[in-house]
Amino acid sequence: MKELFSKRSVRAFQPTAIEPDKIEIILKAAMCAPTTGSQNEREFIVVTEKELLKKLADVSPYTACVADAPLAIVLLANFDKVEFPELWEQDMAAATEKILLECVHLDMSGTWLGISPVAERMENVCKIFSLPENIVPFAITAIGYPLQKTSMDRDFDFSIVHYNEFKKA
Ligand SMILES: Cc1cc2nc3c(=O)[nH]c(=O)nc-3n(C[C@H](O)[C@H](O)[C@H](O)COP(=O)(O)O)c2cc1C
Repeated sequence: MKELFSKRSVRAFQPTAIEPDKIEIILKAAMCAPTTGSQNEREFIVVTEKELLKKLADVSPYTACVADAPLAIVLLANFDKVEFPELWEQDMAAATEKILLECVHLDMSGTWLGISPVAERMENVCKIFSLPENIVPFAITAIGYPLQKTSMDRDFDFSIVHYNEFKKA
């Protein structure tokens, strides 16, 4: 799948607004991700307002790129629906990567910005949206049309691959 190999984290975006139909496709992609026992705990906040994007840029020392993104999708878990609490973060991670892959397919780019399980970052997101207790933030994806073309060069290190047994290097 060519999108998978060309996908890079992009933190500088054109100011162009993202078309609503494309936002819907990205959200559908996220909803295609599997969840443990189909618990479907995912919820999403689509953020396009500049002031809110600026607030999200301050939730951690590593989220500054959201300020200049035309779009952010905040991934949340609804704990009223969670039946397998040990695995909620894996559900959310699957949806996060689906969002970023679909962005590449639509000629956009983005970056996964980690929120959970860092308490301070989670609290900051909760405050911005006045989230109720059952809604837990997982990650932010900053999305936009990239300012520059990204490099496709990657090194693949096959020394981390083990066949049938684990062999110490
Ligand atoms: C769980 C997770 C959390 C991340 N958090 C951040 C973040 O807070 N800020 C950021 O700029 N990038 C973040 N990233 C993106 C990584 O830094 C990026 O994927 C890595 O540098 C590799 O670059 P590539 O995606 O272009 O291959 C995160 C990625 C993952 C998987």
